[in-house]
Amino acid sequence: MHKSTLAVHSGTRRDPQGGLNTPVYADSAYPYLDHDQVRYPRYFNTPNQQAVVDKLAALEHAEDGVLCASGLAAISTALQAHLNNGDQLVVASGIYGGSDDMCRQQLPRLGIEVSYAQPDAEALLAACGNNAKVIFCETPCNPRLQVIDLEYLCSQASARGILVVIDNTFATPVLQNPLRLGADLVVHSATKYIGGHSDICAGVVLGSKQLIAPIRELGLRLGGSMNAQTAALLERSIKTLAIRVERQCQNAIAVARALEQHPDVECVDYPGLTSHPQHQLAKTQMADFGGMLSFRVKPPLTAELVERKLRLISSAVSLGGVETTCCQPILTSHARVPAEDSASQGVDQQLLRISTGIEQAEDLIADLHQALQQARQA
Ligand SMILES: Cc1ncc(COP(=O)(O)O)c(C=O)c1O
Repeated sequence: MHKSTLAVHSGTRRDPQGGLNTPVYADSAYPYLDHDQVRYPRYFNTPNQQAVVDKLAALEHAEDGVLCASGLAAISTALQAHLNNGDQLVVASGIYGGSDDMCRQQLPRLGIEVSYAQPDAEALLAACGNNAKVIFCETPCNPRLQVIDLEYLCSQASARGILVVIDNTFATPVLQNPLRLGADLVVHSATKYIGGHSDICAGVVLGSKQLIAPIRELGLRLGGSMNAQTAALLERSIKTLAIRVERQCQNAIAVARALEQHPDVECVDYPGLTSHPQHQLAKTQMADFGGMLSFRVKPPLTAELVERKLRLISSAVSLGGVETTCCQPILTSHARVPAEDSASQGVDQQLLRISTGIEQAEDLIADLHQALQQARQA
């Protein structure tokens, strides 16, 4: 079935009263005698948690998954479950700053060696030593939208016995399925597109039953599970995921093209533009190019000057909502990344990142044009 159909129908638990939606099972206590499993919210196996996992597993072509209280809970639990003292983790530079910070600050305390490489398949593979166990990256990557060749990366890593974990938050399960391209695990900050309305914090990790089992086991010890009400809200949100993302992609290409023409814009990063260095690759591994783009303004303009003049587009952290948002990665998503690493990714005072919502493209472009003009006159 198509993604839009799966997003609506898969995973739904039957309502004994005949309603169309999965009922909200708020319980934290379940009988266990004569039952095949002990149900408990922190064990990730309540009906509302399972309904969401089944829906996302269908969209990502996964066998199993764990629904967590945040994207970072999903990422940290997945990585820790598959890394041991003495193992090497290779991370792509430019990933979300919170993931970067967790890898830099937390994993070395467990004896895990963390190495960084450019967000490029060859560079990531070249950084792998004999003790390399996991490669972790995003594609498109945050915030400069580099695209990594997943099929190549995964086939080479697999031949060396290295697991590949992909953060698919920017692409969404509607546009890209890393497991189908050979990745071992896929993670999402469901706080973003999957939730889609800027009112939920959630995360998920999906993969084979074999690779998910130790993640669930560790997650149960660490305790980052989700309550039933949030899971039910998330299940409702996913029903409109495909249609939201379709509109967000249409708006992103329209905004990217308009910005590319603007004399005060130095460059636009969007995989859908033919000027993007990995445009052809993105075309082969993504169904569309997503709702995320970034652009650099030319001095004397600065990102902040422009951001402060926006009227319709909200200046806000986070992304993937129905409303278009804009932020300076250097002050938000990448604030915790060491300055030299940010500089090497071109994450500085000239860079703005946009997450397009589902409004009308012309209104977004008009707002950006007026903000650039006002900034110039300031
Ligand atoms: C690409 C990406 N991955 C992971 C995360 C972390 O997700 P959460 O904030 O839900 O913990 C974020 C948050 O901004 C993100 O942008």
